[in-house]
Amino acid sequence: MNYSKLYNFCLESYAKLPYLLGGGKAFRPMTLFVELTYRCNFRCNMCQFLSLLDDPRLDEKKGQELTTEEINGVVDEVSRFGLISFTGGEPLLRKDIVELAQHASKRHKAYLVTNGVLLKKDIADEFVRLGCRNVLASGMASVGISLEAIGKRHDDIVKAPGSFEKILSNVRYMVEQKKKSGKKFPLVWLKCVITNHNVGMLDDMYRLAEEIGVDMFNPITYYNIPSTNRLEMDETVKSGTAVNPIENFDTAELRNQLAKLRQRAKNSAVQLRITPPGLPTDDILAVYENRLDLSNKVCYTPWSSVAISAYGDLFPCSNYTVGNIRQEPFLKLWNNEKMQDFRNRLKKERIFKSCAACCSMVFEGAPSAYPPKG
Ligand SMILES: C[S@@+](CC[C@H](N)C(=O)[O-])C[C@H]1O[C@@H](n2cnc3c(N)ncnc32)[C@H](O)[C@@H]1O
Ligand code: SF4
Ligand code: SF4
Repeated sequence: MNYSKLYNFCLESYAKLPYLLGGGKAFRPMTLFVELTYRCNFRCNMCQFLSLLDDPRLDEKKGQELTTEEINGVVDEVSRFGLISFTGGEPLLRKDIVELAQHASKRHKAYLVTNGVLLKKDIADEFVRLGCRNVLASGMASVGISLEAIGKRHDDIVKAPGSFEKILSNVRYMVEQKKKSGKKFPLVWLKCVITNHNVGMLDDMYRLAEEIGVDMFNPITYYNIPSTNRLEMDETVKSGTAVNPIENFDTAELRNQLAKLRQRAKNSAVQLRITPPGLPTDDILAVYENRLDLSNKVCYTPWSSVAISAYGDLFPCSNYTVGNIRQEPFLKLWNNEKMQDFRNRLKKERIFKSCAACCSMVFEGAPSAYPPKG
């Protein structure tokens, strides 16, 4: 079964009724992205948070990250059997990560994305123990591990010598424990962001995913967002701002690799999920050629999902905050005036220029015809 397709279908259906009839309001969120921290032990060259990770102002915010109780409180407000997605920075740097996963797993499906280097045996054991009993049950649904390339190339991208071997051994351990437990969940995904540094080895990485025996291989289209700054939340809906151009990308190699991936997926036990899901190959290439056609793209995400920063800001979309949970209750923020205004503007425009390649973008309608580059 293709679980991510099923999940996207449910999410979109949940969002569409209030999208069409809600006048800016929405049902309780079904997905909550929790950015647990902006501390990280890596410095990946493509990371959307790269400038933030080294911002000296982060020191001033020390001690201001949401507490375990604050996070659990917000998690409790999400629709029953919703998805709680723990991310960061590096979520495994939080000492309470197991406690947070345990709490989220009681009423919801939990997902965690990590660079994997701190995925020690005791944590992996607990994640497997928390695994959902079936597709409908609450529990740990997935663990995504970012592996950006193979061998030294990976270590160079993330700026952490020796990390590839450590991550590989951590992933192998988790896959083995899951097999022993006889459980289907949590699904273990290998993820990577497609850049010039790994585009030539995507198919080799898929083969590695097959050899390890993970559930999913997930290459992600690079999102060259203008700024991802969680320190100064601005309130500009970024409809006028386009994403930063991508320079000198080998699109011919990307076309070749995407064809190989799609071919391999036909007979593979490892599911292929390319992010944004459902985007045709020509559109993915167009992102890297800085000419994505947005006329057949739409976003329903703020009607079903929301993210919370490590300091409690609630944002339906990068850099657009509607308030802070330390000042106003979570569910009030979710349907406050700013949020409704944001949804109404998005509905009117369908999609913003700044959305090109965002993982929430949905492709709808006839495929775009891109004239040959020349
Ligand atoms: C910001 S990271 C945080 C979690 C963890 N540190 C990790 O790397 O997996 C969350 C996800 O964003 C992806 N990511 C980082 N920079 C990106 C970019 N510029 N475009 C698209 N995805 C990106 C990472 O690969 C990862 O899957
Ligand atoms: S590990 Fe994750 S948060 Fe850290 S630099 Fe890499 S992508 Fe960014
Ligand atoms: S597609 Fe656009 S509006 Fe939707 S979440 Fe992404 S950046 Fe925000």
